Amino acid sequence: MIFTHDIDVLTGEFRRERELPGGHLSQAMSDDGWSPSSWRSFPAKQLPVYPDSCALQYYQQVLQQSPPLVLASEIRQCQQQLAQIAEGRAFLLQGGDCAESFADCQTTSVRDHILTMEQMAALINQASGLPVLKIGRIAGQFAKPRSQPEETLDGVTLPSFRGDIINGREFTPHGRTPDPQRMLRAYQHSASTLNLIRALDPSVFTFSPAPQQEHVHPGLTEQYYRSMHRQLQGCYPRINDQQPRQPLFTSHEALLLPYEEALTRRDAAHGRWYNCSAHMLWLGERTGDIDFAHVEYLRGIANPVGIKCGPAMTQARLLALLKLIDPHSTPGKIVLIARMGLAHIEEKLPALIQAVKGSGHPVIWVIDPMHGNTSTVVSGHKTRVFATIVAETQAFTALMHQQGVHPGGLHIEMTGVEVTECTGGLQQISDRDLTHRYYTACDPRLNRTQSLELAFLLGQSWHHRV
Ligand code: PEP
Ligand code: CO
Repeated sequence: MIFTHDIDVLTGEFRRERELPGGHLSQAMSDDGWSPSSWRSFPAKQLPVYPDSCALQYYQQVLQQSPPLVLASEIRQCQQQLAQIAEGRAFLLQGGDCAESFADCQTTSVRDHILTMEQMAALINQASGLPVLKIGRIAGQFAKPRSQPEETLDGVTLPSFRGDIINGREFTPHGRTPDPQRMLRAYQHSASTLNLIRALDPSVFTFSPAPQQEHVHPGLTEQYYRSMHRQLQGCYPRINDQQPRQPLFTSHEALLLPYEEALTRRDAAHGRWYNCSAHMLWLGERTGDIDFAHVEYLRGIANPVGIKCGPAMTQARLLALLKLIDPHSTPGKIVLIARMGLAHIEEKLPALIQAVKGSGHPVIWVIDPMHGNTSTVVSGHKTRVFATIVAETQAFTALMHQQGVHPGGLHIEMTGVEVTECTGGLQQISDRDLTHRYYTACDPRLNRTQSLELAFLLGQSWHHRV
């Protein structure tokens, strides 16, 4: 049931006013029993428990009555471009924060993200000759699954931080309590980030073409740095010439289902349901069980859907997921995001590739070389080693070629800022350097130099293959 609410000015609490006709967010149900709210009948993992269910319903209703963030026509355009990757004629670059934070949705960070993605795309394009489709982990990547539901500090135990859309990072009972008003703030931050994405034109930015040389470790691989620099400069005319400019599409993990449900709309022209909070959504490693709520939700929307495939993924589960989420074998619908880790990729991935090949689903395989390669150093910082990330990316490309499958792209956690969160790379960031600029709200990201370097090295391996 949906209720309208007023805030009681004296207590700050929500008061139920009157019942709206029509019941829950959406009554319309497809023939196969799916509706935007049908996930509610399934067991769910990783969802917060909101102490005030009336407030939750109120904010869901506010969102449901708000304009869509992206349009169904744009989502279809994104899928058409993904279909080209499924045919081996393009490449996907998907990147951004592990978790966006409300505090960091600023002009400069959005600009630097766009610029870095643009330059990475140009490097990959120059080496492979393929068009590069850019999808940001941006304008909505606010919810995080956690391995531990609670965190204990100095003998005090509180709920874990689950992303700014759910609760706060500050370690206080108030901060860690899930607050549904945060969904509205996430929507507003996503809207202003999207506004910038649509307005900013990278060809008019003034920026230095490559990472500043002083950022590069002295005496290190000078020649290598210069060759990357030269190649980036060679890309400039291409970046500036792109007419019309290829837009950055948006994506996030479809984790917080009350939010996703509220932004799900039926497209009047086609009669299909679209999640209008992002162009592409993905199913996380921790919520991918068949017959659970997240899979139920994702099977009904017409957006392209990513599926994270970790070492625990089996052929049977993957095929069952494909049957549910992509029943009509639609090109550009499914992006399989391998996140095995360097230690497992060669053992685990080939069987999955073969099973999917045999199923006939025209999927796109991409590599997430971040999530299977996380470690914690003595200072307590979570980090990732650049050389391991490169090695898993290259192992993926080699395995795909061995299987005769197009290595469709790269899914990474990165930022356009020179943070020190992952070690290694041209700057030779060490474990001790991690304390300098460790800003991530969740997992460690490649910084601008490391992102460009990864794109450069990926391009090099393409180049040597051809
Ligand atoms: C993520 O992409 O931030 C994430 C949590 O990934 P995974 O579900 O693969 O662990
Ligand atoms: Co992450």
